[in-house]
Amino acid sequence: MKTTVPARPPLAIGSPAHKELLCSFFTESHDPYVPAELQWPALSGDVVKRLQALPIWEEAVRTEAETALAVLTMGAAEKDPILSKAITLQGYEEQRHAEILKLLTEKYGIPVPAFSPAAPADPSWAFMRIGYGECFDSFFAFGLFALARDSGFFPPPLVELFEPIMQEEGRHIIFHVNWVAYNQARLPYAGRPRYVFRRGLAMWLQALSRLKTAMRIKGAADSGQDNFTMNAHAQFGDISPREFVELCLRENEKRLAPYDPRLLRPEFVPSIARALLPTLPRGGRD
Ligand SMILES: [Fe+2]
Ligand SMILES: [Fe+2]
Repeated sequence: MKTTVPARPPLAIGSPAHKELLCSFFTESHDPYVPAELQWPALSGDVVKRLQALPIWEEAVRTEAETALAVLTMGAAEKDPILSKAITLQGYEEQRHAEILKLLTEKYGIPVPAFSPAAPADPSWAFMRIGYGECFDSFFAFGLFALARDSGFFPPPLVELFEPIMQEEGRHIIFHVNWVAYNQARLPYAGRPRYVFRRGLAMWLQALSRLKTAMRIKGAADSGQDNFTMNAHAQFGDISPREFVELCLRENEKRLAPYDPRLLRPEFVPSIARALLPTLPRGGRD
C-alpha cells in the first residue's frame, strides 16, 4: 500500500520558525565528545614525519583559537537567548578544535608557538567574517580531507579522530548562511541595504584573504621554498584540478545532506566552482 508523507510547511526565512529550526538543528546535532578522552594512535616514524612536514599547524592553531574566542564573544553579546545558546555552543565546538590541535601537536612533537587571541571589538562583524571564511575553507577542506583519507596520507585511526571536526564545520556553515539570512529578513526595508553591503564586504574580504594565501603558497612553490606544495602531488596521488574540484563538490553535498532540507545551504562557493569546472584542466592529455 502506498503511504503519503505529509508535506512539511515551507519555512519563511526570518520567521520565528526559521530561528527555532536553525537553533534546534544546531543544538540537536551537537556531538558531545571530550577531547581529553580521545585515543591518539601510535604512528610509524614515517607518518609522524609526514605530519610534522605539513605547513599548516601554526596557522590552524591560531585560526581555531581566534575563532573560538570571537564566536564565544558573539554568543555572549547576542540578546536573543535561543540564538545566544546556539552561538555559544558553536564557540565551544571551536574551542574543542583548538584543544584537539594542541593535543595532536603535543602528541606527535610538532612545535607550535604559544598564542593568546584578542577578543573582537565588533563581535557581530567578526562572526560574519568568520562564517564567510568557513564557507570558503570548508569547501576545499572537505575535498582535501577525502583525498588525505582515500590516498592513505592520514592513517584510518587519525581520520576517525578528525571526522567529527569536518562534520562540525559543515554544521557551522549551514548555521552561518541561515543566521545571515534570518537577520537580513528581520530588518526593516530601510536597514537592508546597509546589511547587504556589510555582508558583501565580509564575503569579499574573506575571498581576498584566501586569494592572498593562494598567491603566497604559489610564490613559495615556484621559488622552491615550499617542499610540501612541491611534493603534495606525489603525497596525495595523481589528481587533476578538475577532479579535485569535482571531489570538493561531491564531499560538500555529502557533508551537508544529513540536515533539514528546509534550511538554506551555502551556495556561493559551490556555484563558482561549478561555473569554473569546464575551464579547469582535466589532467592527462589536456
Ligand atoms: Fe573550527
Ligand atoms: Fe567552524
